[in-house]
Amino acid sequence: MSRHSQIKITWVVLVALVAVTVAGISAQTGTPDGPKYQNGTTLVRPNDYREWQFLSSGLGMTYESEARDFAGAETRTQRFQNVFVNRSSYSSFLETGTWPDGTMFILEIRAAAGEVSINRAGRFQAELVSLEAEVKDSRFPDGWAFFDFGRAGALRDVAEPLTGERVARCVTCHTDHTAVERTFVQFYPTLLEVARDKGTLRPGFD
Ligand code: HEC
Repeated sequence: MSRHSQIKITWVVLVALVAVTVAGISAQTGTPDGPKYQNGTTLVRPNDYREWQFLSSGLGMTYESEARDFAGAETRTQRFQNVFVNRSSYSSFLETGTWPDGTMFILEIRAAAGEVSINRAGRFQAELVSLEAEVKDSRFPDGWAFFDFGRAGALRDVAEPLTGERVARCVTCHTDHTAVERTFVQFYPTLLEVARDKGTLRPGFD
């Protein structure tokens, strides 16, 4: 074998190795900016989710099934809940009114504050309280999975999919009361319009 063709073969092997390694590290489904995992299903917390697409913010929302746990919205500590989604899935939703495989949502919970600086009435967003996530990904048997990155100050870098009773709550509420698939599009005003246009709202939501 000539020295020339030996060098050529070495290059081919090197390029193949790099390709295999890159594919292994960024193992993900569907979208380039969607969920990233370790060991197949352990979700990596994205550091840049605040640069993702913002969907909406709820303040002090309580839900039907929680009514008995709380004395009422007034006495409960009010929190803001901000929802973000990866950008390519957002673009896809605008086109189709549904979420593509490889969509990731972050639910960011923040304290509400008031009467600071020049503020006299109303509430604004203050420190981070906790972070949760949800993915639509065909690698999970159910097609969807829910995650808890924990509380501010002790946030986990990665989270296993929730299982058992913990996930049962998420799944039940996100199945029985959601407007599009497992998501609360009824509370994201611009997306609600899109879903209405595309006819993807679940029956009972229009
Ligand atoms: C009793 C109902 C209920 C339960 C239980 C619940 N959620 Fe939600 N979730 C909501 C509502 C309503 C929203 C809409 C945004 C808001 O209220 O802040 C939401 C929004 C979300 C979003 C943003 C994307 C979307 O689906 O619209 C994520 C992520 C999320 N929840 C994660 C979780 C996780 C993880 C659990 C379980 C640990 C959970 N949720 C349990 C009601 C629920």
